[in-house]
Amino acid sequence: MDKRKYPAELEEKAISLAKFIYKKDPAATSWQEVYDLYPGFKAVMDHHEAHRLYQAGELYEARKLSELSRKETGIEIHPGAQLGEDIFIDHGMGVVIGETAIVGDRVKIYHGVTLGGTGSEKGLKRHPSIHPDAEIGANATLLGNITVGHHAKVGAGAVVLHDVPPYATAVGVPARIILHDKNWNRIGEYQI
Ligand SMILES: CC(C)(COP(=O)(O)OP(=O)(O)OC[C@H]1O[C@@H](n2cnc3c(N)ncnc32)[C@H](O)[C@@H]1OP(=O)(O)O)[C@@H](O)C(=O)NCCC(=O)NCCS
Repeated sequence: MDKRKYPAELEEKAISLAKFIYKKDPAATSWQEVYDLYPGFKAVMDHHEAHRLYQAGELYEARKLSELSRKETGIEIHPGAQLGEDIFIDHGMGVVIGETAIVGDRVKIYHGVTLGGTGSEKGLKRHPSIHPDAEIGANATLLGNITVGHHAKVGAGAVVLHDVPPYATAVGVPARIILHDKNWNRIGEYQI
């Protein structure tokens, strides 16, 4: 894997993200290991540049960069997607994040997660919005212009086609919603 060099204005962000991931990942032995080797780190940093190009109207160049990043990391983030601070994509292989997806600060995403469209939306916003501190388990598929609330958890392998409230857990196919209070005491559930 290539070691990345980031422009001066991104270097501070890069070090801060690598340190954040190091703190969160019990398997990481140093932030430098994250910085040099972690595909999720590289994909997010590449996305900063791809998104800047996208916003500047350099759509082809933006897409080219995101495709190069996908080739190396196995993680596909459309340059139009809006990512917050300290996004941790763990393992990462097979992650797909669509053009109008919004991913809030400190969201954790495991490998195989799709933040996609249903294929039938007509509006401009076609992909999910994930609010801060939510966690999306491996191979979960979230489709359409839905919202996952802050601190919510989506279980590995879930298929989510409707909103998930804050502090709720969504599991299964189609997802069952388990409601919690802020201290994670179970207060109800429903099938969607
Ligand atoms: C969903 C998850 C976050 C646990 O959240 P939680 O709020 O602590 O949920 P609980 O463990 O209390 O489980 C609640 C219910 O969901 C069920 N459940 C948990 N995870 C599930 C999953 N992935 N799929 C289906 N059902 C699941 C539990 O069996 C339990 O069922 P019950 O109501 O019949 O007792 C966790 O199980 C999970 O899937 N994490 C993803 C982690 C991951 O992707 N790791 C990859 C590492 S490489």
